[in-house]
Amino acid sequence: MSDARHRLMTLKSSLRETRVAPDPTPSDLAEGEVLLALDRFSLTTNNITYAAYGDAIGYWTVFPTGDPAYGMMPVWGFADIAASRAEGLEVGARVFGYFPMADTLLVQAEKISRGGFADASPWRKKVPDIYNRYVLCAADRNYEKALENAEALFRPLFVTSYTAVDFLRDAGFFGAKRIVISSASSKTAYGSAWCLENDEVEVVALTGTRNRAFVEGLGAYDAVHGYDEVESLPTGVPTLYLDLAGDADLRRRVHAHFGDDLKYDCLVGSTQSDSFTSGDPELVGPKPVFFFAATCLDQHRERGTLHDFYDRFLADQKTFFERVVDPASPWIRIVEHRGFEAIADVVRDLADGVSDPAEGAIGVIDR
Ligand SMILES: NC(=O)c1ccc[n+]([C@@H]2O[C@H](COP(=O)([O-])OP(=O)(O)OC[C@H]3O[C@@H](n4cnc5c(N)ncnc54)[C@H](OP(=O)(O)O)[C@@H]3O)[C@@H](O)[C@H]2O)c1
Repeated sequence: MSDARHRLMTLKSSLRETRVAPDPTPSDLAEGEVLLALDRFSLTTNNITYAAYGDAIGYWTVFPTGDPAYGMMPVWGFADIAASRAEGLEVGARVFGYFPMADTLLVQAEKISRGGFADASPWRKKVPDIYNRYVLCAADRNYEKALENAEALFRPLFVTSYTAVDFLRDAGFFGAKRIVISSASSKTAYGSAWCLENDEVEVVALTGTRNRAFVEGLGAYDAVHGYDEVESLPTGVPTLYLDLAGDADLRRRVHAHFGDDLKYDCLVGSTQSDSFTSGDPELVGPKPVFFFAATCLDQHRERGTLHDFYDRFLADQKTFFERVVDPASPWIRIVEHRGFEAIADVVRDLADGVSDPAEGAIGVIDR
């Protein structure tokens, strides 16, 4: 690996602004340490949300920079083990997990098993376990090199789509016969719509004017409406709001329009907001309840059902990946952006909310 290693740092006060800086990660390893060399990762609005909640949820602490003004925006991707002083973790092994946008990441390996390991670095303890785990691809029977881009893009999002639908289904959809999904063009949203395909609920998309044609083209929703059409949606059907937008005005309008028909408000994302919902005195109907996939996985772990969950999830996830990138009718086209300068442009567009949902952006670091 070249000595000229770099990282892309994000200005915490303006997430669209980044700077390429030297990567100070040491290459001399202590006992138990592993050096990971990232080369491929996804960039979606989810990464911007990590940064937006960097202080509130602790994502800025995961990859410290030593500079309080700048943070490392976390991404999901693939790396090779470049050096290792941990038994069982061999140089050259392919790994999937949570990374800073940097050439390298040094981890203190713990909980090493055939399937993967965790980073024991104390500054990572503030976030749920899922963010600190690294999967060894060789042990993942659903891993396929050719699907790495799709996996980097969708794995962290589809787990949310999937667990959210599991949660709602287990609750009998709170009596709803219709699910209205905001930011329907987001990957997390249409992943949920795909999971709901065989459920006896109508799945209705809400999206912006710019993204409407894309959402209609997916064919994943029973109906597609613009944000300006909320008040013309039929009432009289028990309805559940699956909120990916997190927009307070839109939420107020959805609640006011559906009134008593609104059975549950499941808050999953905040593509259009960067602050938590606090009690909204103007909100009628059920209070939004935040859904966090990581908590759901922790609960599976505590109940001893994590293994069974992953068996089912990974098989279904692969079917979803294959659908999304099906060469005959792909839902998105995957575009690779090489090098930190090009990657910085993608981050800026995501932060500005001007990305094309038809493009799945992959950052590539060549070495
Ligand atoms: N709770 C959890 O456990 C969890 C886990 C994963 C993801 N999430 C959240 O789910 C959300 C979706 O993430 P994703 O990666 O799936 O998104 P994505 O695929 O990048 O989709 C982005 C979409 O969000 C809307 N949008 C984005 N930025 C905007 C802006 N500045 N102004 C207005 N609209 C904007 C647009 O959709 P429309 O035009 O259709 O609105 C856009 O097409 C994120 O907030 C993410 O953090 C939550």
